[in-house]
Parts: sequence; C-alpha cells; structure tokens
Amino acid sequence: MMRVAVLITGRGSNLGALVEAVSVKDFPAEIALVLSSKPDAAGLEIAEKAGIPTAIIDHNDFDSRTAFDEALNEHLEAADIQFICLAGFMRILTEEFVGKWRDRLINIHPSLLPSFKGRNTHERVLHAGVCFSGCTVHFVRPEMDEGPAIVQAAVPVHAEDSADDLAARVLKAEHHAYPLALRLIAEGRVRVIDEKVHIEGAHSPGDYLLNPTEES
Ligand code: GAR
Repeated sequence: MMRVAVLITGRGSNLGALVEAVSVKDFPAEIALVLSSKPDAAGLEIAEKAGIPTAIIDHNDFDSRTAFDEALNEHLEAADIQFICLAGFMRILTEEFVGKWRDRLINIHPSLLPSFKGRNTHERVLHAGVCFSGCTVHFVRPEMDEGPAIVQAAVPVHAEDSADDLAARVLKAEHHAYPLALRLIAEGRVRVIDEKVHIEGAHSPGDYLLNPTEES
C-alpha cells in the first residue's frame, strides 16, 4: 500500500474524490495524512470524517518559504509518506522540496496544460475564446504548473458560460482525473522518460485520457 499525503489549502473537493477512490477495496494506495497550510481549510473536515490523520502547517508561522518547506518535509517524513498529492494547495514550493520529492509529487491544475498556467484560469480561458478547457494531473517541477502530464480531461466551453459555470464543469472532470492518475501511479504503471509520461499496459488512449464531454 502506497502511503499518500494530500496537501490542501481550502475546500478540498479533490481530496474528497481521492478519499472516496481509496476507500474501494482493491485501491493500491492509502491516504495516510492530510496536511493543510491553513488552519480553517474546509477540507480538514473531510479528512476528519474519514478518520485520516491531519496536520496544519500554517504558512503565517514561517518567515521564509524554505523554513515552511522544511517543516512540511519533516512532517511528511515523520508520517512515513511515500507520495504527495497537491489538491488545491496554494503554496509555491521551493526547488529543494520539489527536487527531494521529484516524481513522487503530483498536482492538479484546472486547465489543459501547458495552456493557462497560473491563477484565474477560467476567466482567462473565457477571455481567450477557446472551445475546450479541462484539467491536468501532472508531476511537479520547480516552475509553477510545469511538469509531465499524467492524465488530462477535456470539457467544452460554452458561449454563455460564466467563470463559475466553467469551473464547476472542470471540477467535475477533476474528480475523475485525479483518482485515475493516483491509481495508475500506485499500480506502478507510470514512468517518466525524457520528461514525458509513459503508462505501462495502456492499450488505448481511453485508459488514461478522459474526455467526459457527454456528461458535462
Ligand atoms: C481545483 O480546481 C484545483 O484544480 C485548483 O484549485 C482547486 C481546488 O479545489 N488548483 C490550482 O489552481 C493549482 N494551480 P478543491 O480544494 O475543491 O480541490
């Protein structure tokens, strides 16, 4: 069983999707720790309800990114964590931390990367007038929202969409994509070669590429 930590800052709906996924009997990973960078993150309640140990490392208690990341690392190591999922964790991690956890640290971003990195994604997608958006689960690299994509899911952008409408449609796709990516990794099927992800035993793109347009 791979021991996973999920790092959150807020609502935690992706955490909720991961908690539900790992509760299935044959899922090859367990969420051993939920760590929040904010004491009042709503996601902490999801963890507590599921009986998962929680920790708070409040970024306001640290005067540098390095000190914060060191505390984070200490906690993760003390809990014997093998793999980290960032799920709405709104902190930029230092190069040292990312290097230490290289290929054992993944993130979900609400766009089809490498397009629309950064914040206010949905507003910028609407402003650009593109027909599709979606989400990407990717390995983390030091540059923000960079790194090899593991799973992507596409959703349509409708002319009448508000940013909230689009965010809700993308979020629904996120809740499918993140558990799938974690399962593939925990099954030992994911390799990074030349900064591209290879999925062992994937027979068709449908094994790892989600396109849930019909349910959106
Ligand atoms: C999600 O939409 C996630 O993709 C986004 O924050 C939201 C967190 O929601 N992450 C990023 O923008 C990271 N660059 P959640 O707390 O309900 O999972």
